[in-house]
Amino acid sequence: MTKLKLILGGALAAGILASAPVMAWNEGGGEKDEATKIYETFKKKTPEELAKIRKDGIAVYEICSACHLTEGWGSKDGTFPQISGQPATVIIKQLADIRAKNRDNPTMYPFALPKEIKNAAPEVGGGPYAIAAVARYIENIPMNPDPGVGAGTDLEHGAKLYKDNCVKCHGENGEGHKTKFFPLIQGQHYKYLLRQFEWIRDGKRRNANPDMIKQINGFTEKDMKAVVDYVSRMKPASDKVAKSKDWLNPDYD
Ligand code: HEC
Ligand code: HEC
Repeated sequence: MTKLKLILGGALAAGILASAPVMAWNEGGGEKDEATKIYETFKKKTPEELAKIRKDGIAVYEICSACHLTEGWGSKDGTFPQISGQPATVIIKQLADIRAKNRDNPTMYPFALPKEIKNAAPEVGGGPYAIAAVARYIENIPMNPDPGVGAGTDLEHGAKLYKDNCVKCHGENGEGHKTKFFPLIQGQHYKYLLRQFEWIRDGKRRNANPDMIKQINGFTEKDMKAVVDYVSRMKPASDKVAKSKDWLNPDYD
């Protein structure tokens, strides 16, 4: 092939990719698989080794805490999501997708890059191990007992919509599904849920699950607000939640 053809071919392929409404939502391979495999090996580690992994997770999470807060609780206005308590598999997938530009997140992208993490935590490095260690740390941070919620005016409708459209993937109580990479959504800030739901419906969140898009096709604004208001009020298991809304993460002084 001539050089010109190669350039044209590349431009064409890039054009097609840029206009694709939804990318493969959970294709195997890449950093997601590598980090998930490393995370699996944590199950066989000794307490001493786990203490080291936790320390590495804390070192990496320091970068993330600038936006997600040291408690991982994000912000009520929905700018930053709560990430504490999210299963590690989901955190790994989202982080790998953001790094691979399979999910657009221009605010976070520069901070999530391998070189940035390696700079901040040279002893951990910025690769798949760093992702696995930070994901394990985040999933064990106690969750926010007081997330942002919606107006509370249409909760019965929300409950019915949830039961009919969401339970099969996100679970009875919004707890998600670890091995299927279905996120935990219970107790997430209302405004964040609303934005993601809308982006998934409209094809803007490119790593979204196509079956979810089909399921929520036809949801009106009213339906959308009702169901995510209901979700924001779902209570996570009590052992996952901080005792008080004033709790501060003691790992960071
Ligand atoms: C500069 C701010 C910033 C930093 C630093 C940052 N994030 Fe984020 N993060 C965001 C924003 C904003 C979003 C939500 C983007 C959106 O609305 O789609 C997000 C989303 C996420 C999500 C997806 C949550 C979900 O429920 O879908 C994960 C996981 C995540 N961040 C993990 C991390 C980790 C781990 C780090 C550290 C390595 C980090 N973030 C650093 C701003 C940041
Ligand atoms: C077929 C399975 C499926 C169904 C049905 C489904 N979802 Fe999802 N949902 C997913 C998956 C998978 C993701 C994560 C996609 C990804 O990796 O980016 C997701 C993501 C989300 C997110 C973004 C979460 C985050 O942390 O960023 C919200 C909010 C959400 N779903 C709400 C709902 C609600 C509410 C319903 C019912 C009206 C629903 N979903 C139905 C599979 C489903």
